[in-house]
Amino acid sequence: MGSPQDDAYRLLNEYSNGFMVSQVLFAACELGVFDLLAQAPGPLDSAAAASRLGCSPHGTELLLDTCAALKLLKVEVRGGRAFYRNSELSSTYLASGSPTCQRNMLLYMARTTYRCWAHLAEAVREGKNRYLQVFGVPSEELFSAIYRSDAERLRFTRGLQEVWSVAGRSVLAAFDLSPFPLVCDLGGGSGALARECASLYPGCQVTVFDIPEVVRAAREHGAFPAEGRVGFREGDFFQDPLPEADLYILARVLHDWADEKCSRLLQRVWHACRPGGGLLVVESLLDEDGRGPLTTQLYSLNMLVQTEGRERTSSQYRALLASAGFHGFQFKKTGGIYDAILARN
Ligand SMILES: C[S@@+](CC[C@H](N)C(=O)[O-])C[C@H]1O[C@@H](n2cnc3c(N)ncnc32)[C@H](O)[C@@H]1O
Repeated sequence: MGSPQDDAYRLLNEYSNGFMVSQVLFAACELGVFDLLAQAPGPLDSAAAASRLGCSPHGTELLLDTCAALKLLKVEVRGGRAFYRNSELSSTYLASGSPTCQRNMLLYMARTTYRCWAHLAEAVREGKNRYLQVFGVPSEELFSAIYRSDAERLRFTRGLQEVWSVAGRSVLAAFDLSPFPLVCDLGGGSGALARECASLYPGCQVTVFDIPEVVRAAREHGAFPAEGRVGFREGDFFQDPLPEADLYILARVLHDWADEKCSRLLQRVWHACRPGGGLLVVESLLDEDGRGPLTTQLYSLNMLVQTEGRERTSSQYRALLASAGFHGFQFKKTGGIYDAILARN
């Protein structure tokens, strides 16, 4: 018999309320709570925060107290009044001034990913995403859906780069890449991982290859400055000649595509790769039985609702890479969300 003290019942409620937790985080980012508190000379009470955010006093008080319960804010009570400041988590990852801020990705998740997840049941039933229904674009055109406006493309690109401020080093240091002086990051977006690569390996030159709209944004927006050893080249990696390189990087690219397109891309990379060269694949690796880690399973469902692809196990990547001609595989679980595979041509 069920009971309110039952652990299973507690877990059920935790799961069903999980989306509310995400929404508190998203709303606080959207409203600028963490930036306000980071810039304020000291802790603020909810009335002061409400007036500076242009929000209702009642709603703000509820939001700030819930953020405090979630450890996103710290509260101190003085003279019977609560004063709020950022917690270490929000100072590090949610305040815009922090070099490890993840705010753009959270805004992208709030405005786009969340809407796609509302159609998870249909996507499971049909085995494909519902971009057509969610955003009015054909599901075949994956990146025209993701990049359905300039603002959306910029937010996605900025969001994607944020993770590498936290996880870039661990995936690039998973193997010694110093024997590869010429590197090409295919689908490298804003060049955030490329810049990490150039700073970790002072002898290397990195070309970021991406579609013209993304390269243009990377060049135009001050957020993505090209540095001396990082350059950009526009093109379509399914059709155009790939830049010459000793090492190609495919970070979070293969998971966007079904096996057939991955094979096509990998064969092109194998043909372009210099003799003795390599390919670094950066992805979140599923356990061999597909039943963990939970974050990677959720990412795989995310691929279902947002893309044509999926997350894969080490064996599945090995099979794709081997059929394109690669050999000498090394797999490295980093202990973080993203793992690394090095293959030789
Ligand atoms: C999921 S993002 C990963 C970006 C980056 N590698 C990272 O890990 O942050 C996939 C990238 O592939 C790029 N892309 C998609 N189709 C492409 C194509 N046909 N040719 C070149 N780049 C492409 C996208 O513009 C995007 O930057």
